[in-house]
Amino acid sequence: MSSIPDDFLSKTLARVKPSPTIAVSNLAAELKAAGKDVIGLGAGEPDFDTPQNIKDAGIAAITAGKTKYTAVDGIAELKSAICAKLKRDNNLSYVNAQVTVGTGGKQILYNALMATMNAGDEVIIPAPYWVSYPDMVLLAGGTPVAVEAGIETGFKMTPAQLEAAITPKTKWLIFNSPSNPTGAGYTAAELKGLTDVLLRHPHVWVMTDDMYEHLVFDDFKFATPAEVEPKLYARTLTCNGVSKAYAMTGWRIGYAAGPQPLIAAMRKIQSQSTSNPCSVSQWAAVEALNGPQDFLAVNNATFLRRRNLVVEMLNSATGITCPTPDGAFYVYPNIAGCLGKTTPAGTKITDDQVFATALLEETGVAVVFGAAFGLSPNFRVSYATSDTNLIEACTRIQTFCAALS
Ligand SMILES: Cc1ncc(COP(=O)(O)O)c(C=O)c1O
Repeated sequence: MSSIPDDFLSKTLARVKPSPTIAVSNLAAELKAAGKDVIGLGAGEPDFDTPQNIKDAGIAAITAGKTKYTAVDGIAELKSAICAKLKRDNNLSYVNAQVTVGTGGKQILYNALMATMNAGDEVIIPAPYWVSYPDMVLLAGGTPVAVEAGIETGFKMTPAQLEAAITPKTKWLIFNSPSNPTGAGYTAAELKGLTDVLLRHPHVWVMTDDMYEHLVFDDFKFATPAEVEPKLYARTLTCNGVSKAYAMTGWRIGYAAGPQPLIAAMRKIQSQSTSNPCSVSQWAAVEALNGPQDFLAVNNATFLRRRNLVVEMLNSATGITCPTPDGAFYVYPNIAGCLGKTTPAGTKITDDQVFATALLEETGVAVVFGAAFGLSPNFRVSYATSDTNLIEACTRIQTFCAALS
């Protein structure tokens, strides 16, 4: 192994913690390589293929030679499709100059934080949260402020909690509904409770992460902050992307709409880092947003069936309580009833990381422990896999829990 001087790497790196999920995925890979029958419930992406019309649009773009640099923040055709989508689905009016396109939703959120964070700036992040939010804030030089939204409130932050977390230094609230990792969605009425608080604090802006907008079940109706409270329009950055709903995770297209000076600042960051998102993917995303949307209902019916299956099977496991989420493709069961018990192999379950590691080692089921998302004792299951895998994995979890003593 070669070595590098201690002071060679950036001090910025010291602010970011190593991904807590890596330990579990490394162990899963090791066990798999050793021939163990491992079922992964960790995937953050749909197991469906990208719809054919969208693939065809990508192929047509290649054939037509649309393979050169584009405008840094996206082609006009895609920006127009995004504006039309925001009007159609969210009743939000934007023009192309208020829109920017990046390499996935992740780059969009990162650009927004890089473009706005100064030392001391605080960002409120309801926990459990998507793992990247706090570390992106830290990388950008800000301070993440986690607000624990537990199982009692359906993993949703209350207006009183938001009010209590706001300080003069608060710059953003990052708002994600339906949520990764819980699948919890805020109704318009619940969201109004939060936006009312924000109206009293004009220095706080909202960064929405609407990535799971279309993946909702039963009669849940998606709502986004600027739609629910138009008075927040001037301080809301509405972020979204095609990755999850259109099964396009590998194409890497995300976007945001918001105040023009902020969008221009985000473009500046992107212009000196990655430049434009992949040209071919942008043309495919135009088709995703403008083309037929009927496959969404077909995919959601599959996700709904799997959600019901997993919720029911996990609630039948001793010591586990699994709330029924409104959307996304995750469940976030609580394992309070397993803590303090001992596994057949002799491991005492002291926290959710120990639970997830023992579950993997003793049954071959790979899940992500709750501490990674800032709320314990829980674990996250992604049900974006086959019914057969889900039934087998949940059966193993039931057997594992029943054997705890
Ligand atoms: C809540 C949330 N936001 C953003 C992203 C990033 O999406 P993309 O793959 O478009 O970068 C993810 C992906 O896991 C996510 O779960």
